[in-house]
Amino acid sequence: MARVVFVLNGEHREFDVDLAAMPYQHHGRPGSLLDVALNVGVPLEHVCGGNCACTTCHVVVRSGAQHLSEMEDDEADRLDTAWDVTPQSRLACRAVVRGDVECEIPVYTRNYVEEGGGLRLGRRG
Ligand code: FES
Repeated sequence: MARVVFVLNGEHREFDVDLAAMPYQHHGRPGSLLDVALNVGVPLEHVCGGNCACTTCHVVVRSGAQHLSEMEDDEADRLDTAWDVTPQSRLACRAVVRGDVECEIPVYTRNYVEEGGGLRLGRRG
């Protein structure tokens, strides 16, 4: 079991997840933060389907980084293109959960979710 906390719009959503029994949601790596989010109903965007080809699943890890899989080169290269990246940033589709972790969904992703998704570069009238 692991306690996974997603911070979304300042609200902490805590989930006790049985990582061994959790079904794979077919986006990102099995057991990744994205997989957990999809299992528990947290609206974490993943435009590329969890294939490390966008940055919409960017999260900022607040605690428990040691309980995530090591960052690999493809994730690091993709993160370099993310907006507002921090030293605690990860791509949720790449970071596999192995214990308790808390992460925040950054504001640009929250705005994206709140606007209903889609690749928008600006608002129209
Ligand atoms: S969903 Fe596109 S990089 Fe993670």
